[in-house]
Amino acid sequence: MIETPKLLMIPGPTPVVRSIQDQMARETVAFGDADFIADFKGLAAELKSLWRCDGEAFVLAGSGTLAMEMAVANVTKSGENILVCSHGFFGDRFIDICSRKGLGVDVLKAEWGTTYTPEQVDAELSKKKYAALTVTHVDTSTGVSAPLAEICGMLKKRHPEVLLIVDAVAAAGGAESWMDWGIDVLFTCSQKAFGVAPGLAMLWASGRAVEKRRAMGTIPESYFDFERWIPVMRDPSKYWGTPPVNMIWALKEGLRLIKEEGLEERYSRHIRQAAIFVAAMEALGFETAASKENRAPTLSIFFYPEGSGLDDPAFRAKLAEEGVQSAGCLGGFAGKGFRLGHMGNIDKHVLVGTVAAVERACIECGYEVEPGKGLGVLQAGFIRE
Ligand SMILES: Cc1ncc(COP(=O)(O)O)c(C=O)c1O
Repeated sequence: MIETPKLLMIPGPTPVVRSIQDQMARETVAFGDADFIADFKGLAAELKSLWRCDGEAFVLAGSGTLAMEMAVANVTKSGENILVCSHGFFGDRFIDICSRKGLGVDVLKAEWGTTYTPEQVDAELSKKKYAALTVTHVDTSTGVSAPLAEICGMLKKRHPEVLLIVDAVAAAGGAESWMDWGIDVLFTCSQKAFGVAPGLAMLWASGRAVEKRRAMGTIPESYFDFERWIPVMRDPSKYWGTPPVNMIWALKEGLRLIKEEGLEERYSRHIRQAAIFVAAMEALGFETAASKENRAPTLSIFFYPEGSGLDDPAFRAKLAEEGVQSAGCLGGFAGKGFRLGHMGNIDKHVLVGTVAAVERACIECGYEVEPGKGLGVLQAGFIRE
């Protein structure tokens, strides 16, 4: 049997291109190696300048959840209040992290599939003194994007003293955000829109976030304390925890590809690809969980068409057989649809392959779509692009 790799279309990890894989396969060197030190230093400096950060950029071994905890631990202290703005499963994850930290936690929740408005955030923040708020830019459970730029604008005018923590795990490198919008802590991880394998957390802290951390003195957390890592990020010949050498090279290559494309063009490409891809899926009868104005450019939740008879585990198993890995839905959406990523280093071939496999899987599962109907929309979209 001919074995071709399955398309990795879950919303992270996303496809890892050959040149990044090659970096992971290199002979590992000592983390004190002079060339590696130069690579690591250059990577941290580039991340900082590319995201227009006036503080520090951090790269360390860990996943997105570690970055969530790192963000909260370094800019808030027990007894302070935090507003968690949540429009899904990952927004809610902050509730537990902040409660364990001993923060006073209030939650602004949007119904799944929708998001909160800057006016609602303003109204909540006006009720009491908050040290910080969290915003999940794109929640991977719903495929909804928060109005981040507008929230930043509102905060500058109405609550400039409140620190803004942004979970950009399913956004950074695929959906636009810049630290100079007024973000204090922004974080992501390697396996999403950067298109690198899982293993690294990346976090940007503004100058005032770094200052707040410094002013807090010793904090209970050690591994991801900004104060431990700042000397390393400035001079990686220093040691705090062993840097994952090959992953750092892989990220360096991922960033080279991002720079080659240009961040602005990358954001625009994600918007264009998402619109064409969603239109193709809609032609097959699928609907996104997110309403049109809130759709994320990085991933979508596709609800099974009513009356299609598609059964979630059976459909996704068939889709995998047809060559595409997808993710099941979370929480209240479980069983009602499936999740596909469209972020990172993907191109027309990947999207054509994905829609073609969806068509075959639908038909094999008894949902009689017209073969080529989604593909036609996709092709027309690419040709017009
Ligand atoms: C928006 C968001 N935040 C946080 C996380 C947690 O990241 P990880 O699974 O890498 O710990 C995820 C994971 O998908 C996510 O999508």
